Amino acid sequence: MKPLRIALIGTGFMGKCHALAWRNLRAVFGAGIPDIHLEVLAESNSELAAQKAAEFGFARSTDDWRAAVNDPVVDLVSITTPNGMHREMAVAALNAGKHVWCEKPMALTLADAGVMAAAAKEAGRVTALGYNYLQNPAILTARRLIDEGAIGRIIDVRGAVDEDYLADGGKPWSWRMTLAEAGLGTLGDITCHLVSLLHYLVGPITEVAALTAVAHENRPLADGGGATGVVENDDIAHALVRFASGVGGVLQSSRVAHGRKNLIRIEIHGSLGMIVFDQERLNELQLYTADGPAETRGFRTILTGPQHAPYGLFCPAPGHQLGFNDLKVIEAANIVAAIEGRPSHLIDFASGYRIEAVIHAIACSAQEQRWLAVA
Ligand SMILES: NC(=O)c1ccc[n+]([C@@H]2O[C@H](COP(=O)([O-])OP(=O)(O)OC[C@H]3O[C@@H](n4cnc5c(N)ncnc54)[C@H](O)[C@@H]3O)[C@@H](O)[C@H]2O)c1
Repeated sequence: MKPLRIALIGTGFMGKCHALAWRNLRAVFGAGIPDIHLEVLAESNSELAAQKAAEFGFARSTDDWRAAVNDPVVDLVSITTPNGMHREMAVAALNAGKHVWCEKPMALTLADAGVMAAAAKEAGRVTALGYNYLQNPAILTARRLIDEGAIGRIIDVRGAVDEDYLADGGKPWSWRMTLAEAGLGTLGDITCHLVSLLHYLVGPITEVAALTAVAHENRPLADGGGATGVVENDDIAHALVRFASGVGGVLQSSRVAHGRKNLIRIEIHGSLGMIVFDQERLNELQLYTADGPAETRGFRTILTGPQHAPYGLFCPAPGHQLGFNDLKVIEAANIVAAIEGRPSHLIDFASGYRIEAVIHAIACSAQEQRWLAVA
């Protein structure tokens, strides 16, 4: 088996996550995985690049992401920079013949996401977006239960994604609040994760009617000088949605929801029962089935364990629990499977574009105050 040689761009929250995933992949998934060579790491300055390459175990470092992307030995580029850089970096990597693992959201605008999807199609390389929550064995189990008819016909869908990282109005202004570097706000940052899960569990969203809000219109600049920056994108976004099946649903999302750390709550209401999942309790599914004696009916907790693949590859004991970084290892395993032509469970640039179309339709619907079809 040929080794897989990796370039990593960016070493913040997600950069470390990708590095850990590549480092742990073979240890977790075994000899079916090729040798992973951490070849070159790119950062915005050479000191940070060298420091992070040493910490993460990369052989070389550079302050020039183009050199990493065009490096002839590199097979795959992990892109973990802010949203505004994804399009240029991903298209350059694809044009250089590399596979690409890019963080979500794809880009600042739907048009840019379209450029990325077209470049992926043209290049014929494997592409994957960082929709890690989709890799959770609990989510795979939810899908299997739905397919097996455990809750009957889906009749209603509720989804919420809430965090409080900007709940404090005194939190400094940053790139995440600008149209130029982040694009959409809560929609691009976290609503897209909810849409990725609902597309997998229920099917594509085809129509939306939305409202968005900014909770804190100005925030202090980080230099402490007293000046403020304008928040240009949504803090809160809610939508009524319709799926291709005709079923309706409600999506709620906020990055200013005090007390919510990583709530991604999904309720799939069926004609015979209900499935509930919450990412803050990512090793659990709640299942209610309307059968058996009425006096003992109730939601039961399914705790994931080795019988929920690939949990057992991480840990032989049920209930000991997977974590966020483990989902990224599973995502990397699926990327390798796709490269080797085996079945894989990923959001590539084509299916990622359909997620972007939903979040941009929500933003437009809120602006135009009417129902919109998803482009
Ligand atoms: N999948 C998830 O659950 C998840 C979670 C958080 C963030 N994200 C996404 O990951 C991306 C990065 O977010 P983050 O939280 O890691 O941000 P971050 O600010 O922690 O890290 C960004 C990194 O990119 C580097 N960088 C900036 N310009 C660069 C350049 N020209 N060349 C090389 N490196 C450069 C920065 O120095 C920094 O190390 C965003 O698109 C975000 O939406 C995804």
